Amino acid sequence: MHFNLSDEQIMVREAAREFAQTELLPGVIARDEAQEFPDNLVKKMGALGFMGIMVSPKYGGSGMDTLTYALIMEELSKVDASASVMVSVNNSLVCYGLEAYGSDSQKEKYLPKLAAGEWIGAFCLSEPEAGSDATSQSTTAIDKGDYYLLNGTKNWITNGGRAQIYLVVAQTDRNKGHKGINAFILERDMPGFEVGPKENKLGIRGSDTHTLQFNDVKIPKENRIGEDGFGFKFAMKTLSGGRIGIAAQALGIAAGAYELSLKYSKERKAFGTEISNHQAIAFKLAEMATDIEAARLLVYKAARDKDIGNKYDTSSAMAKLYASKVAMQHTVEAVQIHGGNGFVKDYHVERLMRDAKITQIYEGTSEIQKIVISRAVLKD
Ligand code: CAA
Repeated sequence: MHFNLSDEQIMVREAAREFAQTELLPGVIARDEAQEFPDNLVKKMGALGFMGIMVSPKYGGSGMDTLTYALIMEELSKVDASASVMVSVNNSLVCYGLEAYGSDSQKEKYLPKLAAGEWIGAFCLSEPEAGSDATSQSTTAIDKGDYYLLNGTKNWITNGGRAQIYLVVAQTDRNKGHKGINAFILERDMPGFEVGPKENKLGIRGSDTHTLQFNDVKIPKENRIGEDGFGFKFAMKTLSGGRIGIAAQALGIAAGAYELSLKYSKERKAFGTEISNHQAIAFKLAEMATDIEAARLLVYKAARDKDIGNKYDTSSAMAKLYASKVAMQHTVEAVQIHGGNGFVKDYHVERLMRDAKITQIYEGTSEIQKIVISRAVLKD
């Protein structure tokens, strides 16, 4: 498998890098402090095609492949992981979920606005008692003939406060186990739907994460995604692709911290020379560069697997497991290389270190990735 990037992929990566430097970098510290992200930046990402990267042009998307999506995710995440998580959830959980498994009318109704960045989507699986154990859904969607009656609570929902479209996973028939679970499209203005409190987070503070409440929400039958009972598989299949996006995010966070550390080490002097001339620092940079390159290869491999029609559940789990470990480990090292300055917000690496942690938690913790990988290797 080779990863020679095409001219178009290189051009798109440059565009993402340029956007990150000129549009995301200037306010990133203030947005992290204030826990906000302005709508106009989401719209700009939409205008560049970043909100519907893999969506077919038929539905207003950019029609690019998963590898290009990963390249964009890496560049945005080097600067602002709050921006990139919005991009990731909208692209690989919401748009991909709808395009791969939705009906024609669902695709026609929702994809053009989502791909343009006019609307943003959220993916609602996690609950107070069902984060990793996704089959134990306590949100219910009772079949009432023309509609389903939705009741329950979802937690830690990315884009929860700003989304217009929510893909909600709920239990329709508890006796059928995972085959009794369905996924639905909920529109923000449906009566009985409430956006609950916003979480005050360690990292990715610019992105909004909310609790959501459903009180007798009537979801029209045509808003169910796929056949009756397909909801759990829908969530698993969609998350397999989502993990490529989060792996690319982790890679970007690590690479961003590395690039800042490399630059800093050539400028900062101690003991009469630039600190890059001390092996204590040079060896750290060598390890960072090596681990980041290994993570990049795993991310590209998972993306390529998806693009050429190979199975990618295991490769995406491996990419996410490894890249998120590298992100956590090397953002800590980046702070260390920056010394006292690393502990100060102006130097960006403390934020990258805080942002890195979530990549080991959302879209399946590292332990979940190990379950997926170990099941695959033990089966072989
Ligand atoms: N693709 C297709 N089907 C799959 C699948 C996949 N990737 N994974 C499982 N399935 C199928 C199985 O084949 C099985 O079907 P059959 O019974 O027909 O054979 C069915 O689903 C049940 O599978 P398991 O028995 O493997 O289910 P499990 O209960 O053991 O759970 C798990 C497996 C991997 C632990 C799963 O629960 C999981 O991935 N949990 C983590 C959930 C998660 O990632 N949550 C994050 C929330 S989303 C988020 O963070 C978004 C955000 O806002 C950023």
